[in-house]
Amino acid sequence: MTVLAIDQGTSGTKAIVHDGESILAVVEVPVRPHYRSGGLVEIDAHTLLDSVLESGRRAVAEAGNPPIDMVSLANQGESVLAWDQESGQPLSQTIIWQDKRAQPICDELFESSAAISATTGLVLDPYFSAPKMTWLRRNQTKDGVVTTTDSWLVHQLTGEFVTDATTASRSLVFGLDSGEWDADMLRLFRLDDEALPRIVRNDEVVGTTSAFGGSIPVGGLIVDQQAALLAQNCLSAGDLKCTFGTGAFLLGNVGQAPLRSAHGLSTSVAWSFADGQSYCLDGQSLTMGSAVRWMVAAGLLSAPDALDAECGESTNGAVFVPGLAGFAAPRWETDARGAFVGLSLETEKHHLIRAVVEGLAAQVTELVHCLERDAGTPIRRLNVDGGATRSRALMQAQADLLQIPIDCFPSAHATVLGTAAAARLSLDPGRALGEVVTSWTPSMSYEPRWQPDRADEVRSAWDQAVLATTSLGR
Ligand code: G3P
Repeated sequence: MTVLAIDQGTSGTKAIVHDGESILAVVEVPVRPHYRSGGLVEIDAHTLLDSVLESGRRAVAEAGNPPIDMVSLANQGESVLAWDQESGQPLSQTIIWQDKRAQPICDELFESSAAISATTGLVLDPYFSAPKMTWLRRNQTKDGVVTTTDSWLVHQLTGEFVTDATTASRSLVFGLDSGEWDADMLRLFRLDDEALPRIVRNDEVVGTTSAFGGSIPVGGLIVDQQAALLAQNCLSAGDLKCTFGTGAFLLGNVGQAPLRSAHGLSTSVAWSFADGQSYCLDGQSLTMGSAVRWMVAAGLLSAPDALDAECGESTNGAVFVPGLAGFAAPRWETDARGAFVGLSLETEKHHLIRAVVEGLAAQVTELVHCLERDAGTPIRRLNVDGGATRSRALMQAQADLLQIPIDCFPSAHATVLGTAAAARLSLDPGRALGEVVTSWTPSMSYEPRWQPDRADEVRSAWDQAVLATTSLGR
């Protein structure tokens, strides 16, 4: 059985053709969101659709045009747009998950934040989809429907109006215990009159598409982070992974019950398959690859691939606060900004680059410690995947700060491999998860080189810098 699996991500769309044994073709089409003042991050929806069609068609062609049995799609999770169901045309830009414009909507609902968390497992924050949907309704258009990008893309491909359980669970209007849209949450966000997509399992066939030649079933819809969790074979409670992509996304499988975090993380559906549902705790650094691109744009770094060559051995006392897009878990401070502290006349570029690397690794370290406290058991190793894991400097800093080994997933295509696994389950629902994903051996492991005292000192200096430069310290 051959599948075309497509990961429509924030910085690019990647398509693979996979025959169950190996990848026959990989095509990646970059997309570039526009970063505008006021924390706005948006992209034209047609750019996303074009990238899905182009990457998918080129991958099928490069694989030699084999018969495709299933098309599956991973999505960004919390990016939204308004669109017309009759014509299929977008009625707004796509507002990307990093966008801050819906903060005032969250401020208005502040008193309900405990109830919102109890129902949805999430934290009231503009990162999630519903506040951005409410913003679109108030400020842009009352017409059409407002949905996450997956619903629009799948509608373009199949004519169906659906979303999957993992994406719905990132919305703030989904009942984590009921597994359905929640009427109270919809009322709070003033989305109760909306036409909402049908929520489907991750192994459901939702329709057919002729976009890639012939008439091919479409299934295996899933959020990109959950797809990577699946690909990394994190099938049991206690398994965890961190994807170093546009941001960094730590997800820990918590099993069949939706454990709530007591340490600022959120709970989502890890996957919903015919043979059961699993949940995960997650925390995120809103910038990772985007911080590297920012260094290039700011003239600190000559090119993303030059990170290791241009990163110094020490920060010379400089500390970087990685709030370039605000802070999500566990601090949840939308308005936070990035900052360097501890600079002197001796500070050089390579010190600043090293400070960014350590600052990003310190943020992931904080998330891992939150997950450890929620899970109640020590985390002994961290599995990682994603483009930024190519940086030895970043991975070594991660091992040094966490004081545990880091194991790199052996493929650069974890997310899209997880998406292909979801497609295989759609072809054969009820198949054991262990048959569509397998155990793996790290392509590279990083052992901590720092002594524990040094890791403590760097983490503590980072924590003080974050507190000193954000309102959390006031
Ligand atoms: O929560 C947003 C995240 O899922 C986006 O992932 O791979 O597009 O950076 P990515």
